[in-house]
Amino acid sequence: MKIAVAGVSGFVGSRVLRELSSCGFEVVGLLRSQSGIHNVVTAGARAALVDYSSQETLEQALAGCDALFHLVGTSSQTLDSPFSSSMIQPTRALVAAAEKAGVKMLAYNSGLGTNKGSTQSYFLAKAECERIIQGFMGKNLIFRPSYIIGKGDEFSGLVLERLTKGEEIPVYGSGRYRIQPISVDDVASIYAKSLSLNSVWNRTFDLVGPEVVTFSEFLKTYAEVAGKPLKLKPINLEFALQDSMRPVNERRYGTELSTDELDVLISDFISSPSELVAAFGVRLTPFRDVLKMILRNN
Ligand SMILES: NC(=O)c1ccc[n+]([C@@H]2O[C@H](COP(=O)([O-])OP(=O)(O)OC[C@H]3O[C@@H](n4cnc5c(N)ncnc54)[C@H](OP(=O)(O)O)[C@@H]3O)[C@@H](O)[C@H]2O)c1
Repeated sequence: MKIAVAGVSGFVGSRVLRELSSCGFEVVGLLRSQSGIHNVVTAGARAALVDYSSQETLEQALAGCDALFHLVGTSSQTLDSPFSSSMIQPTRALVAAAEKAGVKMLAYNSGLGTNKGSTQSYFLAKAECERIIQGFMGKNLIFRPSYIIGKGDEFSGLVLERLTKGEEIPVYGSGRYRIQPISVDDVASIYAKSLSLNSVWNRTFDLVGPEVVTFSEFLKTYAEVAGKPLKLKPINLEFALQDSMRPVNERRYGTELSTDELDVLISDFISSPSELVAAFGVRLTPFRDVLKMILRNN
């Protein structure tokens, strides 16, 4: 089986690519720039340079592929890179090229909490991408992840750096909003398993970890596992929101997130992993064990 992975320079895409390669699949990693070629080739895959505004490059990259795993996306939009160009346009282009190339299966990472009633930019963009994916002529599979955690994820890396240096970690508002971290290794294994499971296609799964934790509990556990003191810097949500609307160098309260990231962080969407576990036959890694793994590999 030949599998294409788009977004292969990213945190999730690169891990999924390695998993597929190690399972013996023939893998093509789609890249926008030369800089990621070395990693793709080292993982045992072939690199294809593509331009998401050129159908020709995408069709060439997808030629002969049985499945496409679409892991392109951003957590924030900017003037130069609105969600319409970082999420919706690449999704349209990938679906059109996959259909032309005769790809039979297309899996996509949406976001936990995506719903048509949302008014938040991130979730609206994800909802539109889901609609496009569901219109794909072949089989589709949509995952809605909570926070994906593992070696290489920017947020856990930043928290560890702060803990190690004894620096304060911002907590926006109450810190009581919940997250459900899922290991990136589990995500990669679920993606690989999907290729041999007929029953999971044309379905949508919440991609969530086995435990629900508040943001504050998450930080507390991280500090415990790292054996470091936790210094929190509470930031009032109103101030955080004001900050997030300003250029980074004009922020007054130390907020590090964009409005989109703040929206998603405090959205408090949680779900049961039971459907995922039953359909894919996986044992999900407790997030404490993922944290230990991150620390071991650091
Ligand atoms: N990580 C999480 O916790 C999480 C949670 C929920 C959903 N997701 C979704 O899962 C997917 C992968 O996430 P990730 O954490 O791996 O993200 P990531 O590390 O930021 O990687 C994003 C990938 O998308 C590509 N990309 C960004 N803007 C693009 C554009 N305008 N056109 C084409 N490609 C573009 C990047 O390629 P370049 O290197 O060329 O820029 C990169 O390969 C995303 O759709 C994300 O929304 C992730």
